[in-house]
Amino acid sequence: MERLNKYISKSGVCSRRKADELIMSGKVSVNGEVIRELGTKVSGSDVVEVSGNVIKNEIKEYYLLYKPREVISAVSDDKGRRVVTDFIDTNSRIFPVGRLDYDTTGIILLTNDGELSNILTHPSKDVEKEYLAKVRGFFKKEDALVLSRGVVIDGVKTKRAVFKLERYDKKSDASYVKVVISEGRNHQVKNMFSLLGYETLKLKRERYAFLTLGNLKSGEYRKLSLKEVKQLYSLR
Ligand code: URA
Repeated sequence: MERLNKYISKSGVCSRRKADELIMSGKVSVNGEVIRELGTKVSGSDVVEVSGNVIKNEIKEYYLLYKPREVISAVSDDKGRRVVTDFIDTNSRIFPVGRLDYDTTGIILLTNDGELSNILTHPSKDVEKEYLAKVRGFFKKEDALVLSRGVVIDGVKTKRAVFKLERYDKKSDASYVKVVISEGRNHQVKNMFSLLGYETLKLKRERYAFLTLGNLKSGEYRKLSLKEVKQLYSLR
């Protein structure tokens, strides 16, 4: 048996708090009966409906994919481009946790566990993401300092971050920069570089929290272990 709000959020419909709101507003029924009690417990054999739609609680699956370039971080694409779920061999309705741009490569998690996805993508969660960026030109030390301390994008200052020059390649006039951020704003890394006049030529996410790509090659994936899933939950 588990609490109704947890059951709903695990299915990916919404967060636990939102589930409480739905319960209180009479949008949730269990075995055909509207339930407004927040503490109600349900089991796998109960039929839970939210706004008339039956919630299915499938077995949870967790994957780490090395996303290639030119792949959309979504479950479908109206232009017929490849999407991250195409790479995973499963019949479950998995979805990506957060997003990487079409041309960004590297780690992306996929799951059908809405609760974990909500935890990891909640703006208050400081889940670290580490990138290797290739930018045009020489990346100056003073610019690294400015970006690490935070810059204002769309009226909001970015949180403290790490921007560190790893290597400058004179021949191609490009810098390789390690970037660690704990937010997930749209195109954040590229926008931060661009604010100081740097064009991002390549971007690869090498770490998500404690998870790295290991020996995976582009397009390959692996299942997360139970221990890793528990560790991700402990970031709550
Ligand atoms: N920042 C970006 O600009 N793009 C990504 O895909 C991820 C982080």
